[in-house]
Amino acid sequence: MGIVYLILKTIVAVLSCVKSSALSSSQGNLVVRCNESEKSALVKFREDFSNSMDRFSSWITEEDCCNWRGVMCSNKTGQWHVTMLDLHGHGPAESSQGNQVSDSLLDLPYLSYLDLSSNNFLQGQVPEFIGSLKNLEYLNLSNANFRGMIPDHLGNLSQLQYLDLSGNEYALRANKLDWLHGLSSLKVLELGGVDLSLVVNWLDAVNMLPSLVKLGFFACELNTLPLRLSAINFTQLQILDLSFNKFNSPMPYWLFNISQSLSVINFRRSQLRGSIPDAFESMSYLTIFDLSDNYLTGEFPKTLGLIADDDNSTRPSLRELYLSNNQLKGSLPPSIAQLSELEVLDLASNSMDGVITEDFLNFSHLQVLVLSSNSFMVNISSDWTPPFDLDTIGLQSCQIGPDFPRWLQTQKDFVSIDISSNNISGIVPDWFWNISMKVEYMNLSSNNLGGKLPDFSSKLNLSVLDMSNNSFFGPLPHFSLSMMSLILAENMITGTISPICESLVVNNSLSYLDLSLNALSGTIPDCWTQGNNLVVLNLAYNELSGMIPNSTGHLVHLKALILGKNALSGELPASLKYLTNLYVLDLGLNNLSGKIPEWIGENMGNLMILRLSDNEFDGNIPLQLCQLKDLKYFNLAGNSLSGKIPRCIDNFLTMAMVEADKSFIYDPYTVYRKTLLNVLIRMNPVSSKFMVFDLALNHLSGDIPGEITSLVGLTFLSLSNNNLTGEIPPDVGSMKLLEYLYLSRNSLSCSIPTSISLLHSLAHFNLSFNNLSGKIPSGFQIASLDASSFIGNQHLCGLPLTEDCSKPLYNDFSCRIENKGLQDEVKNDGFEVTSFYFGLAAGFAVSFWAFWITLLLSRSCRYAYFQFLDKWSDKIYVMIAIKVARLRNKQA
Ligand SMILES: *[C@@H]1O[C@H](CO)[C@@H](O)[C@H](O)[C@H]1NC(C)=O
Ligand SMILES: *[C@@H]1O[C@H](CO)[C@@H](O)[C@H](O)[C@H]1NC(C)=O
Ligand SMILES: *[C@@H]1O[C@H](CO)[C@@H](O)[C@H](O)[C@H]1NC(C)=O
Ligand SMILES: *[C@@H]1O[C@H](CO)[C@@H](O)[C@H](O)[C@H]1NC(C)=O
Ligand SMILES: *[C@@H]1O[C@H](CO)[C@@H](O)[C@H](O)[C@H]1NC(C)=O
Ligand SMILES: *[C@@H]1O[C@H](CO)[C@@H](O)[C@H](O)[C@H]1NC(C)=O
Ligand SMILES: *[C@@H]1O[C@H](CO)[C@@H](O)[C@H](O)[C@H]1NC(C)=O
Ligand SMILES: *[C@@H]1O[C@H](CO)[C@@H](O)[C@H](O)[C@H]1NC(C)=O
Ligand SMILES: *[C@@H]1O[C@H](CO)[C@@H](O)[C@H](O)[C@H]1NC(C)=O
Repeated sequence: MGIVYLILKTIVAVLSCVKSSALSSSQGNLVVRCNESEKSALVKFREDFSNSMDRFSSWITEEDCCNWRGVMCSNKTGQWHVTMLDLHGHGPAESSQGNQVSDSLLDLPYLSYLDLSSNNFLQGQVPEFIGSLKNLEYLNLSNANFRGMIPDHLGNLSQLQYLDLSGNEYALRANKLDWLHGLSSLKVLELGGVDLSLVVNWLDAVNMLPSLVKLGFFACELNTLPLRLSAINFTQLQILDLSFNKFNSPMPYWLFNISQSLSVINFRRSQLRGSIPDAFESMSYLTIFDLSDNYLTGEFPKTLGLIADDDNSTRPSLRELYLSNNQLKGSLPPSIAQLSELEVLDLASNSMDGVITEDFLNFSHLQVLVLSSNSFMVNISSDWTPPFDLDTIGLQSCQIGPDFPRWLQTQKDFVSIDISSNNISGIVPDWFWNISMKVEYMNLSSNNLGGKLPDFSSKLNLSVLDMSNNSFFGPLPHFSLSMMSLILAENMITGTISPICESLVVNNSLSYLDLSLNALSGTIPDCWTQGNNLVVLNLAYNELSGMIPNSTGHLVHLKALILGKNALSGELPASLKYLTNLYVLDLGLNNLSGKIPEWIGENMGNLMILRLSDNEFDGNIPLQLCQLKDLKYFNLAGNSLSGKIPRCIDNFLTMAMVEADKSFIYDPYTVYRKTLLNVLIRMNPVSSKFMVFDLALNHLSGDIPGEITSLVGLTFLSLSNNNLTGEIPPDVGSMKLLEYLYLSRNSLSCSIPTSISLLHSLAHFNLSFNNLSGKIPSGFQIASLDASSFIGNQHLCGLPLTEDCSKPLYNDFSCRIENKGLQDEVKNDGFEVTSFYFGLAAGFAVSFWAFWITLLLSRSCRYAYFQFLDKWSDKIYVMIAIKVARLRNKQA
């Protein structure tokens, strides 16, 4: 049976072989070029690929393997051999799984081109044997899910001209790059996303590559950048991409020694410091120069405008200049006008100033003009006809107002416009709404613009609209289904929010909706079943009434649900328990009632902000809330809660930590969050930082659990207006960051713990109307500017009260021996209470800002260059990246 089958199979094979050679000969090609041993190597190689039938559909064993898709042969040596294997995938849909890279490749010794990029090798290693394919000239293993150490063996590929290992999602590493010296023919080296943090001498290794034309070391965790080189080998270098690293160093001088070849310099977000050397005269070929998102200081380099000025044969080639998000000062030199080929001028978020007139902007090819967030004064006459047709207009805070800039009427194709914060007032002219059908991003926020908002439903590309902080009135308009972020906060919009429901059909993209601080009324419509992509829903500070609709529970991707300061009533719908991704739950200042549900603690483990204050909640504080270990803001004040303060609050682990400094995190769209930030500030106007614990104005009884003193990160603690008894926890002094301590109007007794004098940051506190007794600790009273913080305690004495402690009445009401360690500390430390923290407003804004940005972007920071499109913040980042890439491709 087996034999018969085998014979049959052979016959079929022979027949089809005849057929295919007949076919070949009919096409005038008599030779079957394929070398049999190489064919079996290919077949074996295919076996280690799975899920990829389509890819190999042309790999028919009976046919000439040189005709298989992705295979090429050559007879350069006199015999036919496979020389090229190109099995790159095309994105996720066709991404094949290669379980491993089969070593059958070793049986293709003449292979010179190997492309396995955009496949999924399931975190396998880059195999060492690839180093034995000694004829390789091109090796592409990018975006292929490899991990582990790059094998030194690649250094044996002395013919290699192209090496691309980028995009393996930070899983590839190298501790040394010495092996590069073997690659003396290398022209293109792409290691983007490879972790090179442990490589000591990366630049010396690169300097062994005299043929290098392109170096792509973006996002490699590099932390050293030598400023000088004794000699330079890579004098052909044209493209240098060192973006997204951690150099913490000035821009290197050796760049200027290869100025005759360099065409692209990219140091975006790589922690560069110092000033930009002003030595660009000879960079005649520079086309793209990107230093955005660094810490660069000093002035705009004047020589940029003088490139090739003395050489009549070359025109300045600079087309894209990105210097945004640095600390550059001074004005723009008029010489910039000589960069006649300029297409991108991005100077956003520096400290530059000066007047920008038409003369500065006479660039006929300009597509991207971003001057936002400096102190520029853009003074352009309203009848100017610019020589350009912009794609991106970024003129935030450019003192354009009070008139609406009429010259914009000439720009008919822009995709992005930001003229926010310009003191422009009056009604938006009608022509503006219809001017560009391509617009995707529109920001007119923080002006004095009025009028009704037009119907946006025909703006099919519009995905980000920010009209916040103006005086728009009338009802909510209609929008197209492409909206991603819709921010209309701080206007005077009236009526119901139901027009939004039209945007919430299947597959809608709306992810950020902020209608806070308007005059919207009626109930919140029960239409959220299709709002799957919403990440932020902010309806705070309106006049919404009725119950929170059940369908809110469908918004399972929500990170922030902010409904504070409305007139919502009833109990929380049980469906809210499905919102397990929430970081912010703010329902404060409503008329909500019932018990605080246990599922808030059980299901919402990510919560950082929980505000249920100023409602009508009753019952106990559920112990499950203690599971919220990430809480930074906990506010249940102003309800009718009773029972005891749970002892398990020491599970609030984040509050038990002193915040580390926040590192700089890039966020091109900070503006969006400003309104949310405002709302959060309003919700607790007195707290300078965001570590808040507030249970004031309830009916809580029992004592203050000593566990609370382990929450050493707290800056704000209020338990006032309850029925608390017992003593103030003796270790209260360990909460050293406290700036606000309110315990007034309880029934606390015993003496004030002396450790309280360790609270050096304390600026506001109140212990009035309790049963406290004994002497007010010395050292402490300096902080207690005001006797009113102590009044209403019959048995307290000492400054700032007038009661004299020498009277026996006030002696020894201490209830127990206080913590010994802390007491010793008090002795050494108690009288140094000299400085107080008064920069509250400023400190609050900065720290909260940092927090909020971190919250939404913490991971995107590291992964910004890759395709993590699942997160809202990344989408926005990538949107910009794509736009830049699109522009670059257009030029290529
Ligand atoms: C096939 O190629 C191998 C090397 O890949 C070589 O050793 C062998 O001689 C070739 N066979 C023929 C028939 O050309
Ligand atoms: C390669 O093959 C072609 C025909 O396919 C032939 O004309 C040519 O001479 C061959 N070259 C070598 C070096 O054998
Ligand atoms: C490697 O392949 C990817 C696509 O899979 C491509 O984008 C990239 O340009 C290639 N690298 C080189 C150096 O050709
Ligand atoms: C390739 O390189 C490795 C390590 O760098 C070395 O041990 C090995 O002998 C080399 N192999 C060949 C065939 O040259
Ligand atoms: C330049 O490259 C050659 C060949 O790779 C190498 O021998 C030499 O040491 C390099 N020079 C420097 C300064 O690295
Ligand atoms: C780089 O240029 C500077 C001045 O232009 C010169 O002094 C230095 O020797 C050059 N260095 C190299 C390595 O060529
Ligand atoms: C540059 O070229 C222009 C004409 O193209 C000429 O008038 C001018 O004299 C030249 N300047 C120099 C410095 O060669
Ligand atoms: C929400 O659901 C509850 C029970 O599942 C139901 O009693 C209530 O009527 C619903 N409310 C609305 C507005 O549909
Ligand atoms: C404190 O408790 C007493 C009874 O024990 C009660 O009358 C009083 O209203 C309570 N005060 C507060 C603020 O809940």
